[in-house]
Amino acid sequence: MEKKETRKQSQGFEPKIVAFLCNWCSYAGADLAGIGRYQYPPNIRVIRVPCSGRVDPLYILKALQNGADGVLVSGCHPGDCHFIEGNYFARRKFVILKNLLEFLGFEEGRVQFSWVSAAEGERFSQVVKEVTESVRKLGPARRMVKTLDIPEDILKDLEQRKNEPEFAAGSSSQLKGEAGV
Ligand code: FES
Repeated sequence: MEKKETRKQSQGFEPKIVAFLCNWCSYAGADLAGIGRYQYPPNIRVIRVPCSGRVDPLYILKALQNGADGVLVSGCHPGDCHFIEGNYFARRKFVILKNLLEFLGFEEGRVQFSWVSAAEGERFSQVVKEVTESVRKLGPARRMVKTLDIPEDILKDLEQRKNEPEFAAGSSSQLKGEAGV
């Protein structure tokens, strides 16, 4: 049943993926993919960072909290970081973050890490294709978005009664919709 719903939700679903790319390697790799005309899905929103080690795990959680369905972090290959050890720090942080995400109930594959150099335009497009496909299969992220599921009949009742004096202080329309945690 749950599987069916997930499939239903993911039909026609285009994931929003935030991609933190290190300026020196992966961002240049993305540029090269463009120059080399390697196509990749338009689902990623790129944020250029000085180094993958500069990506605070909180940025990833914030992205998920604010509606991203997936997050990609990509930096220089181990040993190639322009700040010598930035990507090693990143790797350590992300191992811990993965455990936290698992604890929070995020499916594996919603947050991914990869190493792409400035010379790997084709690899960059391949990584984006794979990440997009795996997030698309997972469907929309819901874990950190608080949804107010108020039954329709209660909403109707509130709508009808909103002009009554005791309801003057508030409005039922405030109860509709979604709100970030
Ligand atoms: Fe690219 Fe550090 S400069 S990962």
